[in-house]
Amino acid sequence: MRISPSEAQAQLETGGVVALPTETVYGLAACLKYPKTIDRIFTLKGRPNDNPLIIHLAKNQDIAAFTDELPEGFDQLAAAFWPGPMTLVVKVKQGMVPQNACAGLPTAAFRVPGHEMTRKLIELTGPLVMPSANVSGRPSSTTPEHVEQDFGAGFPVLDGGPCMRGIESTILIHEQGSWKIIRQGIIEPNRFKAILGYEPSIVHAGEKPLCPGQLYRHYAPKAKLLLTTEFSSPAVILGFSDVDYPTGSRIFAFGPKNHPEMACENLYRLLRQLDEEKVEEVKVDMRFPWEGLWLTLSERLRKAAVH
Ligand code: TXA
Ligand code: MG
Repeated sequence: MRISPSEAQAQLETGGVVALPTETVYGLAACLKYPKTIDRIFTLKGRPNDNPLIIHLAKNQDIAAFTDELPEGFDQLAAAFWPGPMTLVVKVKQGMVPQNACAGLPTAAFRVPGHEMTRKLIELTGPLVMPSANVSGRPSSTTPEHVEQDFGAGFPVLDGGPCMRGIESTILIHEQGSWKIIRQGIIEPNRFKAILGYEPSIVHAGEKPLCPGQLYRHYAPKAKLLLTTEFSSPAVILGFSDVDYPTGSRIFAFGPKNHPEMACENLYRLLRQLDEEKVEEVKVDMRFPWEGLWLTLSERLRKAAVH
């Protein structure tokens, strides 16, 4: 059910959960000040309660209320990339963030979203927690229709159109003297170099990952994804609009081969479309460069392919 910005504001301020657009993916929003509503978000998504949420702020300066001191480079990163698809994890003052929102950790994740409609709303409501608006394990939502597929036609959604970027924010944490990427996202690692003087390393999930979300199954459609570079036998193919696939019985296209931004923008819509069209198995064309945004796309595809 589509709602207006003022209805979204009223519902949030009275302890409701609504879906909001961001430039990355749609989020399920609750006011940070209502722990019971935050619990409802975990229940609605079927999200494990050891997986903390990102706190969305209206302005860079709003971080000041949550922390005593910020790590080196924080202000420069925030000035360069906020509002925008970057999330920073920092140590927070005790009692400032409800325990369920940060899953009991001494840190919390923050971002100032790039979508103006949502940022204006946060100015009125105060900070909002917002996980991606999908049932846990499913592909994220990049349109209001996706949110309704997962949570029902009656679920309140502020319609901000399709998400411009289509893949989640890049998450960084400051650990042992430098910033590290704990979730690859829409900002590629080398874009941080001009700001920090070094390229943050990517930390992959170990036994006890820095990013709890990395523990869980993600982004998966029901269709089985076969990640491949070989297309000699007939198959349904998820590939590129400017590549010829003579063996393709049906072709879903990310967009042209030289356009990783478009591939990211379309990824979750395509994964959801496979399910709507009851595709059981699809070969995914992995013949793209091993660099930049392609690495984020391939990380999402590898996770979506785990069954
Ligand atoms: O683009 C995005 O980031 C979207 C939009 C809606 O803002 N949000 C999003 O939220 O992707 P979610 O809940 O789907 O993913 C948040 C990730 C999880 O993997 C979680 O473990 C990690 O952020 N996270 C949150 N707080 C953390 C913390 N204190 N330390 C480490 N990781 C944290
Ligand atoms: Mg998510």
